[in-house]
Amino acid sequence: MRVLILGGDGYLGWPTAMHFSAAGDDVWVADNFAKRKWELEEGIAPLVAVPTLHRRIRRWKALTDKTMHIRVGDLTNHRFVYNLFEEAQPDVIVHYAEQPSAPYSMQNRATAVFTQVNNLTGTLNVLFAMRRHCPDAHLVKLGTMGEYGTPNIDIEEGYITINHNGRTDTVLYPKQPGSYYHLSKVHDSHNINFACRIWGLRATDLNQGVVYGIDTDQTALDPDFRTSFHYDHVFGTVLNRFVVQAAVGEPLTLYGKGGQTRGFLNIRDTLQCVDLAARNPSNAGEYRVFNQFTEQFSVMELADRMVAAGKRAGLKVKIRHIDNPRVELEEHYYNAKHSKLNELGLNPSLLTGAVIDSMLATAQTYRSNVDKEMFLPQIRWVGGQERLP
Ligand SMILES: NC(=O)c1ccc[n+]([C@@H]2O[C@H](COP(=O)([O-])OP(=O)(O)OC[C@H]3O[C@@H](n4cnc5c(N)ncnc54)[C@H](O)[C@@H]3O)[C@@H](O)[C@H]2O)c1
Repeated sequence: MRVLILGGDGYLGWPTAMHFSAAGDDVWVADNFAKRKWELEEGIAPLVAVPTLHRRIRRWKALTDKTMHIRVGDLTNHRFVYNLFEEAQPDVIVHYAEQPSAPYSMQNRATAVFTQVNNLTGTLNVLFAMRRHCPDAHLVKLGTMGEYGTPNIDIEEGYITINHNGRTDTVLYPKQPGSYYHLSKVHDSHNINFACRIWGLRATDLNQGVVYGIDTDQTALDPDFRTSFHYDHVFGTVLNRFVVQAAVGEPLTLYGKGGQTRGFLNIRDTLQCVDLAARNPSNAGEYRVFNQFTEQFSVMELADRMVAAGKRAGLKVKIRHIDNPRVELEEHYYNAKHSKLNELGLNPSLLTGAVIDSMLATAQTYRSNVDKEMFLPQIRWVGGQERLP
């Protein structure tokens, strides 16, 4: 397959690029390196410095003799996107290229607007470029489980059948997201659904849970292949942050009561799920939704597992409940369906003690890189004062 990976410099994009290349697919990677700029703006850095994308791709060729094509540009620039799609003629587009952080989007008016303009414009440009240059290609778009929020009923995979006044219909599942970032994904979902219904495009929206993990089969091959792993309050997802806090002897910061329950998956399973979606495309005109996670945990359950892993490593890991900077339910019903990827053959890597132990060992190796100031949340959903120019 010709696989075009948008956002190929990121935490998930780079390992995905290596995964498809290793499988013999023809890989094209595009990115505008915006994430690296946001890191500088926030004064944060990944746990381990990440080489430039150009260098990683050169090293990949040297080690595997496989070429990847790289194109640098911004998806909000429609000329860049049209040229890219015309040149690459992809069979599959894996679209990761968005601002991915809820706290970043909730910082102030400017970051909220930026997040929505960046994410929505980029995805609209992708849809229009598909229509023009590769209408048979399959879009595999990264959405999030956070689009659904925490409803008091079971979460279905994308659609729900409703009986209303004696009539029945199947409609998109209602969304109650908890940040401007998550809202951008909801708006994307509607735009993609529309393009499938009206133009006959084919797409799979992967409503992904929270990803954890440092290594994949390919990142472990060479120090240059490591991916951008964040543990900070802006881009660090919860378990990734806990592992690094434990490694440097800082308490695990638990927002509020810790009963917040979400779907989680190992970064290795992100690659497996995207691969399964890409190799089993949806039909023309079909907007397919998969809930992409393997297990549900409350934040408290994760903290307990982290404490146990610390004990195994001879560390005394403490838990610190702090004021929740977000507006979210801290105790709630949560039962999300996730069977469609399993039906396609997903073989999950579950969160065993050994997985946490191995993440902890890696984090300990790089403990001198850790900036402890970056653990505590500095962005609040309400109450912050916006600085006006
Ligand atoms: N990491 C998770 O836990 C998680 C969970 C659910 C969904 N997702 C989604 O998966 C995708 C990838 O997440 P990630 O953690 O790898 O994020 P990331 O920030 O590491 O990667 C995103 C990449 O996209 C690039 N990008 C952003 N806007 C762009 C634009 N306008 N033009 C070109 N490139 C652009 C960035 O520079 C970055 O390299 C995101 O869409 C994110 O919302 C991630």
